[in-house]
Amino acid sequence: MATLLLALTILSLVAAGIVAGHNVTITLLDSAVARGAVCLDCTPPAYAYSPGFGDGVDNWHVYLEGGGWCRNVAECLDKTGYHLGSSAKLMSTAQNGVTFFGGMLDSNSTFNPDFYNWHVVKIFYCDGSSFMSDVEDVDPKYNLTYRGARIYDAMMDELLRIGMGNAKNALLSGGSAGGLATTLHCDKFQSLFHNTTRVKCVSDSGFFIHGEHFYGADWRESFFSRVVSTHGLTDMLPTSCTSKFSPTLCLFPENLVPDIQTPLFLIESAFDAYQIGVTLFPDRSPQWTSCILNLMLCNSTELEIMKDFRLILINTLKSTIANSSSRRGYFVHSCYLHGHMEDISSSTCSLIVGNGLANKNIAEAVGDWYFDRSEFQEMDMVNNLPRNCTGDDRPILEKKCSDYYIHHQMP
Ligand SMILES: *[C@@H]1O[C@H](CO)[C@@H](O)[C@H](O)[C@H]1NC(C)=O
Ligand SMILES: *[C@@H]1O[C@H](CO)[C@@H](O)[C@H](O)[C@H]1NC(C)=O
Ligand SMILES: *[C@@H]1O[C@H](CO)[C@@H](O)[C@H](O)[C@H]1NC(C)=O
Ligand SMILES: *[C@@H]1O[C@H](CO)[C@@H](O)[C@H](O)[C@H]1NC(C)=O
Ligand SMILES: *[C@@H]1O[C@H](CO)[C@@H](O)[C@H](O)[C@H]1NC(C)=O
Ligand SMILES: *[C@@H]1O[C@H](CO)[C@@H](O)[C@H](O)[C@H]1NC(C)=O
Ligand SMILES: *[C@@H]1O[C@H](CO)[C@@H](O)[C@H](O)[C@H]1NC(C)=O
Repeated sequence: MATLLLALTILSLVAAGIVAGHNVTITLLDSAVARGAVCLDCTPPAYAYSPGFGDGVDNWHVYLEGGGWCRNVAECLDKTGYHLGSSAKLMSTAQNGVTFFGGMLDSNSTFNPDFYNWHVVKIFYCDGSSFMSDVEDVDPKYNLTYRGARIYDAMMDELLRIGMGNAKNALLSGGSAGGLATTLHCDKFQSLFHNTTRVKCVSDSGFFIHGEHFYGADWRESFFSRVVSTHGLTDMLPTSCTSKFSPTLCLFPENLVPDIQTPLFLIESAFDAYQIGVTLFPDRSPQWTSCILNLMLCNSTELEIMKDFRLILINTLKSTIANSSSRRGYFVHSCYLHGHMEDISSSTCSLIVGNGLANKNIAEAVGDWYFDRSEFQEMDMVNNLPRNCTGDDRPILEKKCSDYYIHHQMP
């Protein structure tokens, strides 16, 4: 009987279409063009805005999209061929001009109880520099523009114009290259608000480690060094870091995080799929490639390398936190993932796929910390091998997750 009821419920969920998450219209910020705040291909920057409602009307969540970096003209030119370098390409590939807001961007209280009724803004990434570049000259040969910091500033001005300055609660977050951008912009974001506003930042999968003596260290350093030179970042990075380290080292969050004054939360996998998959063996062998695509195919040597990576990441993060002046939260797990906040299976419903710490979903941990219900500083110290936390198909996952929240009503 119970099985039949479950089956019927799942059928009706499927019939009704997706219930978690919603679509939001993409807007081009044409007014930014006049001040030269444009994507790599000179097109206007883009964002999507879902207005707050109910008692969330004074709360703002700004999410910075990620999508890697480009470290030379050829790579930046390549980005102009798709949404990560061109809003024209973004618009031509987005079905019906919309983007999907899921996970911690969801407006459904069932799935996102702490943040569902906030104003939510997703800023699209099209500059290849984690929103840091501001080069006046246009590359004459290809008309490439390096203006990520200008895009960030133009977007903030737009959000202030539509009311963000009066926020009671504000959150800057971002995933991957957007997680690094969040770390880099966090204190600047905080300075937009009154001193009575609660302002915090969440960097999701943005803790890219240097791993100085570990596989791929030279590659990681040379990669960021070329990002710095291509995008003219030497004078754009926080001086609190560049007074101590080279500009290249100031793209590694371990050298940035200690000086950030604003409360910051790190969501990270100790087996970050991007860092393991891309930055350890950039010239990867067929065997390594098959391992990073399917963990079941990894050999014993590869698993040992992943174990070592985990220890380095955990130790780097721990000493970074220990060296930090203001309070930090973190959730460091062992699922083989990269990027969490936009997807229910790795944020609001992560427990359902076996990715919980202290019995909390990632979004609950962030909520506890954001609203000062409690501190949250948890690492998975038990699992020393990467886990595959894929979970059930969507309708089943959503059903289990809504049941979970019904039984764990938030105050
Ligand atoms: C969102 O838009 C996409 C593409 O237009 C569509 O396939 C999907 O069903 C929509 N989702 C919702 C929840 O409306
Ligand atoms: C939110 O999700 C619940 C549970 O799936 C669903 O019943 C409800 O219709 C959704 N609410 C909105 C506003 O979409
Ligand atoms: C660069 O832009 C200028 C002015 O809009 C245009 O005349 C020129 O053809 C463009 N060059 C390239 C390589 O697209
Ligand atoms: C906040 O700012 C006001 C005026 O700008 C000042 O009087 C007050 O002391 C500040 N409060 C804190 C906690 O910094
Ligand atoms: C495992 O694969 C790596 C390549 O990723 C290879 O260098 C190594 O020799 C293999 N180890 C074993 C024990 O097969
Ligand atoms: C995780 O498991 C799913 C389902 O079995 C599979 O499709 C996927 O390839 C696995 N991912 C990795 C990285 O092993
Ligand atoms: C933390 O500070 C100690 C002592 O100053 C230093 O040795 C260590 O490298 C720092 N760790 C990080 C990650 O910055």
